[in-house]
Amino acid sequence: MSQLPIRTFGDPVLKSSTPEVLEIDEALLRLAGDMIETMHEAPGVGLAATQVGVQKRMFVYDVGDGARAVVNPRISAADGEWTYEEGCLSVPGMAWPITRAKEVHLEGRDLHGNEVSIEADDLLARVFQHEVDHLDGVLLLERLDEEQRRDAMRTLREMALSLPLDAARDADRDADRDVARYASQEMRRPR
Ligand code: NI
Repeated sequence: MSQLPIRTFGDPVLKSSTPEVLEIDEALLRLAGDMIETMHEAPGVGLAATQVGVQKRMFVYDVGDGARAVVNPRISAADGEWTYEEGCLSVPGMAWPITRAKEVHLEGRDLHGNEVSIEADDLLARVFQHEVDHLDGVLLLERLDEEQRRDAMRTLREMALSLPLDAARDADRDADRDVARYASQEMRRPR
């Protein structure tokens, strides 16, 4: 397995909607393994294929009880509301309170091709919604209200102007390394 570079805000692949996976082959299994390693190393609680530049409908997740991949995931039911700080590995160093469904029903396939059907709530439900959004080309920025979004875009623009991209990324990583409230951030795996 190897770590893959994570695409960040501004990369057009993050806006692309992914086609369904038709065959679970060697290449897909290798990709899932690499994505799990990349997610753990970040560290994060979820990672979608588009975030490593691959247009395949698959994400991986690990909220603390083992890493799993879901192929062709679909949210078939959603209920309730929960607002919580949320970030994204592709928008490093930033987090916002985002309202999402509190409970969801996720359906899809595992890497053996078996049907997966999971009733999730709280953090896991949030991760599922966030990752399925990625596979539909939707970043969490689009889940912000108008004012939050305006602020976020201004900050991202300023970051892009003031620092070379790598330096900005490193600085963000340092800045939020010890901020516990980012617990639900993709990159903040609860420990
Ligand atoms: Ni994300």
